Amino acid sequence: MTTALITGATAGIGAAFARRLAAEGHNLVLVARDVERLREQATELHDRHGIEAEVLPADLSRDEGIAAVEARLGDRQHSVDLLVNNAGFGNRGSYLEVPMADELAMLKVHCEAVLRLTSAAATGMRERGRGGVVNVASVAAFVPRGTYGASKAWVVQFTQGAAKDMAGSGVRLMALCPGFVRTEFHQRAGMSTGNIPGWMWLDADKLVATALADLARGKSVSVPDPRYKALMGLVKVTPRGLLGGVTSRTGRKYGPR
Ligand SMILES: NC(=O)c1ccc[n+]([C@@H]2O[C@H](COP(=O)([O-])OP(=O)(O)OC[C@H]3O[C@@H](n4cnc5c(N)ncnc54)[C@H](OP(=O)(O)O)[C@@H]3O)[C@@H](O)[C@H]2O)c1
Repeated sequence: MTTALITGATAGIGAAFARRLAAEGHNLVLVARDVERLREQATELHDRHGIEAEVLPADLSRDEGIAAVEARLGDRQHSVDLLVNNAGFGNRGSYLEVPMADELAMLKVHCEAVLRLTSAAATGMRERGRGGVVNVASVAAFVPRGTYGASKAWVVQFTQGAAKDMAGSGVRLMALCPGFVRTEFHQRAGMSTGNIPGWMWLDADKLVATALADLARGKSVSVPDPRYKALMGLVKVTPRGLLGGVTSRTGRKYGPR
C-alpha cells in the first residue's frame, strides 16, 4: 500500500485529493491547522475506505509547522510515495492594502513550505527510485494577478525546474494550475465572486481526477480543463497591458474587513 501526504487536506481541493486517493486505496497523512476537522476527516476516510489516515496538525506559515511536516516526509520507516503541496490562501485586498506580515505569511506557505516539503520528500523518493509531487499553483501564475499570482508563478517555475533536474530519477514533479474552483478559498479571502461567470467554475473532484491522470502521464504542468487550456492559449497572444486590466480585477472584489 502506498502513502500520500496532503497539505491543506481538510477543505476544497485538498479534501478532493484525500477522497480520491483514499478511494483508490492509498493510506493518507492529512495536514492542516484545525485538529478537530483533521480528526473527523481521518475517521470518515478510514471508515469509508478502510485506509489508514494519519493526522498531522501544522501551520505552514510557521517554521515549526514546516519542520514537523519535513520530519514526517523524512521518516524512512514510513515512507511517503506521493506529496500534494496544496495548502494555500489569498489575502484580502490588492497590493499595498495587505499588511506586510500577511504577504510574508503567504510567501511562507506558497513558496518556502513548498520548497522545503518538496525537497524533504524528493530526497527519499530519489533514493527509492520512485515517487510523485504535485504542487498546487494556479492559472493566476500565467497572468498579472497581484502578489498571489506572483507566488504561484514561483511554484510553476520551481516545479518545472526541479522536474527537469530530476528527470530519469523515477520521481515525477508536477505543478497543478486550476482556474476558479468552488471551495472555501474565496470566502476565507473575503472575495466577492459575483463577477466570475458561471462557466469559469471548476469541480474539485473532476479537477483532481484529471490532475492525477496528468501526473501518471508524466506532465510537469497541468492545466486540467479544456476551457482554461483555451484561455491560456489566448493569454499567450494577448498584450500584457490589456491582459492585466482583466485578470487583475476578475474575482478580486473584497468585502469590508
Ligand atoms: N479555489 C480556487 O479557485 C483555486 C484556484 C487555483 C488555485 N487554488 C489553490 O488551491 C489550493 C487549495 O485551495 P482551496 O481552494 O482548496 O482552499 P480552501 O478550501 O480554503 O482550503 C485551504 C486548505 O488549506 C489549509 N491551510 C490554509 N492555511 C494553512 C496553513 N497556514 N497551514 C496549513 N494548512 C493551511 C486549510 O485548513 P486550515 O485552515 O485548518 O489550516 C484548508 O485545508 C491553494 O494553494 C490555492 O491557492 C485555488
